[in-house]
Amino acid sequence: MKPSILFLTLSMLLITACGQQSVKPVYLDSSKPLEDRVEDALSRMTLEEKVAMTHAQSKFSSAGVPRLGIPELWHTDGPHGIRPEVLWDEWDQAGWTNDSCTAFPALINLAATWDRDLSRLYGDCIGAEARYRGKDILLGPGINMGRTPLNGRTFEYMGEDPYLAGELVVPYVRGVQSNGVAACVKHFAVNNQEVRRTATSSNLDDRTLYEIYLPAFRKAVQEGGAWAIMGSYNLYNGQFNCHNKKLLCDILKDEWGFDGVVISDWGGCRDDEEAITNGLDIEMGTWTNGLRGAASDSYSNYHLANPYLERLRDGRATEEELDGKVRRILRTVFRTSMAPEPHYGSFTSPEHYAAARKIAAEGIVLLKNDGILPLRPQSGSRVLVVGENAYKMMVVGGGSSNLKTKREVIPLDALHEAFDSKASVVWERGYVGDTTTVYNKVVTGQDLSESRSAGQLLSDAVTAARDADYVLYIGGLNKSKGQDNEGTDREDILLPYGQDALIEALAAVTDKLVVVNISGSPVAMPWASKANAIVQAWYGGSESGHALVDVLTGVVNPSGKLPFTMPLALADGPIKTERQYPGVKEEGEKWWQEYYDEGVFIGYRWYDTQGIDVQYPFGHGLSYSTFELRDASVKRSGKGWTVSATLANTGDVAGAEVVQLYISDVEASVARPAKELKGFAKIYLEPGEKRRVKFDIGPDDLSWFDTEKHAWVAEPGAFRALLGTSSADIRAEIPFNYDK
Ligand code: BGC
Repeated sequence: MKPSILFLTLSMLLITACGQQSVKPVYLDSSKPLEDRVEDALSRMTLEEKVAMTHAQSKFSSAGVPRLGIPELWHTDGPHGIRPEVLWDEWDQAGWTNDSCTAFPALINLAATWDRDLSRLYGDCIGAEARYRGKDILLGPGINMGRTPLNGRTFEYMGEDPYLAGELVVPYVRGVQSNGVAACVKHFAVNNQEVRRTATSSNLDDRTLYEIYLPAFRKAVQEGGAWAIMGSYNLYNGQFNCHNKKLLCDILKDEWGFDGVVISDWGGCRDDEEAITNGLDIEMGTWTNGLRGAASDSYSNYHLANPYLERLRDGRATEEELDGKVRRILRTVFRTSMAPEPHYGSFTSPEHYAAARKIAAEGIVLLKNDGILPLRPQSGSRVLVVGENAYKMMVVGGGSSNLKTKREVIPLDALHEAFDSKASVVWERGYVGDTTTVYNKVVTGQDLSESRSAGQLLSDAVTAARDADYVLYIGGLNKSKGQDNEGTDREDILLPYGQDALIEALAAVTDKLVVVNISGSPVAMPWASKANAIVQAWYGGSESGHALVDVLTGVVNPSGKLPFTMPLALADGPIKTERQYPGVKEEGEKWWQEYYDEGVFIGYRWYDTQGIDVQYPFGHGLSYSTFELRDASVKRSGKGWTVSATLANTGDVAGAEVVQLYISDVEASVARPAKELKGFAKIYLEPGEKRRVKFDIGPDDLSWFDTEKHAWVAEPGAFRALLGTSSADIRAEIPFNYDK
């Protein structure tokens, strides 16, 4: 080649190369604004590629655009840890050996911490585990309200109060998403029971919807900036929630300005037309061993697959509408796997176990204590431990939140660790609850078989109790069917497996009885007056045993507070009729109908307003120290008020107290709850230390939702600010006026 031709060729090559560099597609350029990347990617896609993104391509993934190098989205349960890998088309385990995660405490345990910082820590850690495992969307947290104590998924949610759940969901979402993983907040909305969850319509007025069932979701979206929302299985006012126009289009997307992706619950999408028009963006779990029968070529048969393509081709659906969905999906990709800053995550790190232990311990609630706790057994003393939950591993079970964890410390092992050098620890099972040790092929390796009869078990426990210096009962519920479990509700709030009789029998032979109830939902405690101390612990995850023993021995001073009311009896609650729960079905009707006749009066809003006694009130929890609230005041500040008081630790142990602010509307024109939580602060104080606590409130905190005006209304008149350490233990009441 002549030099001049060589020069020309090289220059052309260079120009092409440079040219190629300068025309790097916008969607691949992470320095470009998100919306530009979305529009650029969208403009390059075919109709078929767009539709492929709107439905599942496997049990837990939805398609990307391989031609453009846009990766698929990987979804994973769940709220408490990263689910083990499943087969492509099935719920069954894939059998990986490197997918054992850190199990974090159940969300109800997190809610009981009443600690926003711990919620952020939880989100940070679980988000890092999800990212490490290559997941883009974490299917959680769940924030449905505790309407009935029987709901099998209460343990996966954040209690009965919209303000508490709203304050805690925000940092969780931010923490998860700081790892480049979308939090998929679920289950939107009014999905408050498991009984017939796919065939029941929750029917309620807007006031109840806006005041009780939506606020935590709104905060997750508007303050937490959630990138994903999961529609729920049930219907709301007659339309399925995975394509409920009012919930998804009118409220979530229009009113709240949600710009993320709406994902169906697995198998929750039921109709071609509604799936297209009513706000759903990705359809998951419809076929393949899900809620519906599997068909061949199942993913193509999804509502948002071939049926959608047909409608697009024959003009019954518009590409503009499809683009709306794809924009949201692309946004999710550019926020997660194609985010400007790469994230790598971390898995089962010592930091994650430490976080799990801290959160679990901080959420344990000391319900009662006559001074027996903290347990400091003298040298040579005998500690008898009774109850299946001292031994049974509980990270497994419960449904989709079932986990395979690298380690789980059971209470009995942690007790041995703490006491063996000075006291003898002996375990008696006392009763047989659930002997399952394999959940969806996750094997615990425990042997829970039992040859003794129920009578023998009880009498062995009672005999051993006679000689014991301390009797530590560790029982409660578990995560098997009919207990704290997805897909089923409980039938009663009494303890199962004859535990009430067993606790009574133990109380008759010892005056050193500590009862630890491990559960994810409220239980009745008819024996409460006979126990020297009662501790409410939860499914605490990998470090549950350590966390419990930390509290029992005083290594951690308890500071957890109940995120729900512990009633005396189920019948005391607001749900009185079948039409309220579990719903009724008229002859010839397709779906069950359920009416939220109790309106806004759930949980303490009901008990307080009606003046009904409870076993332990919402917000209750003791400490090994004592706290005083002094010098409470309300002062006008700008358009609102500052409510403040001084909290003093008057005991001799360092610890935390949760100061709770409730507002009471004295002169409302509509029936309002006696009081509602509008602020809380968890304050840690050394003995003798004190601190001023301040809450800023405004007219919004005084308002109720007017259905007719479709607006929040704060009525001028008299109000009271109530400051306390539970919904029942109000230490200061300060009247104030709202003049507008
Ligand atoms: C549950 C969801 C879960 C999904 C995927 C459904 O049955 O309701 O909470 O995320 O399954 O496992």
